[in-house]
Amino acid sequence: MSDSRTPRAATPYVLVLYYSRQGATRALAETLAAGVETIAGIEARIRTVPSVSPVCEATEPEIPAEGAVYVTEDDLRHCAGLALGSPTRFGNMAAPLKHFLDTTSGLWMNGVLVDRPATAFTSTSSLHGGQESTLLTMLVPLLHHGMVYAGVPYSEPALIHTRSGGTPYGTSHVAGADGSRPVDDDERTLAKAQGQRIARLSLALSAMTEGRM
Ligand SMILES: Cc1cc2nc3c(=O)[nH]c(=O)nc-3n(C[C@H](O)[C@H](O)[C@H](O)COP(=O)(O)O)c2cc1C
Repeated sequence: MSDSRTPRAATPYVLVLYYSRQGATRALAETLAAGVETIAGIEARIRTVPSVSPVCEATEPEIPAEGAVYVTEDDLRHCAGLALGSPTRFGNMAAPLKHFLDTTSGLWMNGVLVDRPATAFTSTSSLHGGQESTLLTMLVPLLHHGMVYAGVPYSEPALIHTRSGGTPYGTSHVAGADGSRPVDDDERTLAKAQGQRIARLSLALSAMTEGRM
């Protein structure tokens, strides 16, 4: 475990941490990160997690062949806020992301993430395939860490109008049965707004958490 006094990055960042097998959650992550980047004084740091395998000997390369690089504990330790993204798997988050969260007990024991804002996003193949249950269960470990959960408020008009993804618990995307349906206008608007909101909250709450980063 690295030293909790490791210096924080010069510019605060929102850690946009996702797992994606077919690219749908990754597309949402990139849209949300673009929203973060529209807010002055904070940036997005996009990271992913390796797949997990029931075969213990299986290992992933240190640098993924494509997409974001793998997250480290320090990425989480020093973030000003967190946006966590997962495909829906039987109404819950995917195992690779849960596997990473299960390695963060050192941060939990030291209360490192207490008072930092967090949000979540997901992608499903079907419209009623468990987006809300995935988002609600994703927030549970974040609450254990003492993070302050922020969803998407109904002041975002797209939340009312959407005929696809978008929930008050966090942004969602309906990728369709074959996973090829692109992120649509409402989903994009909501993901961007969610990125902007978590960025603003991260800046606002960083005054409370500075000494612990
Ligand atoms: C094991 C498994 C379980 C899944 N469970 C659900 C589900 O409960 N509801 C649903 O709508 N889609 C489910 N899916 C489909 C994925 O959530 C969907 O294809 C998602 O968009 C994939 O995201 P990705 O492109 O980021 O990998 C499941 C897929 C797999 C492989």
